[in-house]
Parts: sequence; C-alpha cells; structure tokens
Amino acid sequence: TLQKSDLQEQVIRLKKEKNAVILAHYYQEPEIQEVADFIGDSLELAKKAAQTTADIIVFAGVHFMAETAKILNPSKKVLLPDLKAGCSLAESCPPEAFRELKQKYPDHVVVTYINCSAEIKTLSDIVCTSSNAERIINAIPPDKPIIFAPDKNLGKYLIEKTGRKMLLWDGACIVHEAFSLDKLLELYKAHPQAKIIAHPESEAHILKVANYVGSTSGMLNYVKQSPNHTFIVATEAGILHQMQKDVPEKILIPAPAKEDNTCACSECAFMKMNTLQKLYNCLEKEDPEITLSEDIMHKALIPIERMLQLS
Ligand code: 13P
Ligand code: SF4
Repeated sequence: TLQKSDLQEQVIRLKKEKNAVILAHYYQEPEIQEVADFIGDSLELAKKAAQTTADIIVFAGVHFMAETAKILNPSKKVLLPDLKAGCSLAESCPPEAFRELKQKYPDHVVVTYINCSAEIKTLSDIVCTSSNAERIINAIPPDKPIIFAPDKNLGKYLIEKTGRKMLLWDGACIVHEAFSLDKLLELYKAHPQAKIIAHPESEAHILKVANYVGSTSGMLNYVKQSPNHTFIVATEAGILHQMQKDVPEKILIPAPAKEDNTCACSECAFMKMNTLQKLYNCLEKEDPEITLSEDIMHKALIPIERMLQLS
C-alpha cells in the first residue's frame, strides 16, 4: 500500500492522463480536498459538473451529488469512490411513498432539496440547494401551495423566512440533528465574543441562536468577511479544514454534539466512506461508476435545469 503523498501523486497523474476532473465537497477528508480540482458546496459542484469539459468526473462527495453530475452529463463517465456513500435525507424519501403524497396534493408545486435520489427528482418541479432555497421558493407564484422534501428542518426554516405555506416531508440530516443546544449554549457562555454560524439542516432551536444561517459556502464567506475573531461552527466538521485555511488567524470551534454521538463534534459517516485509497482505486479502474436509465436522467434533468436557471 502507498503512503498518502504517493497516493496523491498517483491520483494527480491519473487524472491528467485520463482527462478527469475531481469535484470534492467541503465535508471530504483533507487529503481528498488537497487533490481536488474544485471544492465547493452542493450548488457550486453541480454548476462545475454542468460546465466541465473533462471526459471523466470523479465525485468526492455522496451518491446524490454524483447522480446530479451524471444527469447533467449523461455521456460522461461519473465515478464515486464508494457507492455506499449515501445520505440520511435521500434515504428518508422512498419514491413510492413520495409518489403517493404527490398524488394526494396534485395542485402543489413540488420543490425538492438536492439531497434526494434521482428518482425523487423525476417527481419534482424544481430542485434547490441550501444556498438558493429561499430564492427558489420566492420564485414560485405566491398563490401556489408547495410540497417540500425531504428535509423538514430546512423546510421549517424556509416557512419562517418566506411566510409560504409548505407541506413538509419528514426527513432529517443525522449529522445536523446531532448538535446539542445545551452544550452549544454552554460553549457560548465560555466564548461570549463568538458568532454562532449554522447550516439550515440544523434543528430550529439551533438556528434560533445562530448569528448566521447558510450553506457551507455561505458560512465560509461569512467567516471571511466578518470582523469577528471567534466562531462556533454548526455543520459537518470537515468544513473546518478549508475554513481554517481561509482565515488562519481566526478561532473556529466545532459545535458540540449530543452525549450519545460517536464523536465530540459531528461528522458525516457517509461522506467519510470515501478515502484517498478508494479515490485512487476508482480513478485507476474507472469503477464504481454511476449508471442511471435514460428515462430517469431525462426527467430528472428538467427540475435541475430550472434550478440552475434561477441560480
Ligand atoms: P451544502 O449545500 O451546504 O453543500 O450542503 C450539503 C450537505 O449535504 C449538507 O449536509
Ligand atoms: Fe446527507 Fe447530512 Fe451527510 Fe449532508 S451531512 S450528506 S445531508 S447525511
């Protein structure tokens, strides 16, 4: 087995040889982020996927992100280092049950958070991410009722922000629901000068005490622009790598998780299924590859393109 730096060199060599591009989410391991061509939030990565001229897209992220890249590039090879890298939000929303709900409310506009399967996207009128969700909701005619799926926490936040009537699917992100409000407030008492920043997948009580709520890229920009020196960061801990690189002089404290969590902060076990070794293996063997039927790709593209036009 190769050492980290050798593996990284091999990955960089292979991606040049094969004209491949590596897109990585902020929640990926630092050693993966270091070999990526682009690091971003889910919207930025979808945009990069839509624009790339590479022959192969290696998606260092989770399954729904790689699927989105495939839908945007049906003729390209899209690789995911571990096909089991799922998402609790995507899993919470099975197509059959969702189809039933949709049939009960035929007059509703269906907005789905990008954290869902390609099949759910085929049942959707428009897709959104955490960075454009408010804009997407506001673009829907005000008299139209809305079904929002699968994240109930983001949904509740959007109802509060936009005042719209929305029927919410009962899904949640296990990583963002792991934050403890009590521990967060205790930490804040010890650092009263800190600003609390949170991802909108967090529960309402966490969002209520946050000074800033936004996507991963939104949080990074906030920290860069803020005159403040200390931040308590309520999102997946992987973001701290890029954030600390951007603001080396500032103090970043991960928001604490509940007692029963596997780590003191909160990490996404799905995101962490991708390792540098698996990234190398998949680029070398060009496998595992994302495959979708023509029909699903064709139908799922429509709500994704609507989102990109509005973003
Ligand atoms: P972003 O849109 O902020 O990248 O969020 C993606 C995600 O999976 C958050 O848990
Ligand atoms: Fe899904 Fe949450 Fe992991 Fe993001 S952090 S991929 S929403 S489980």
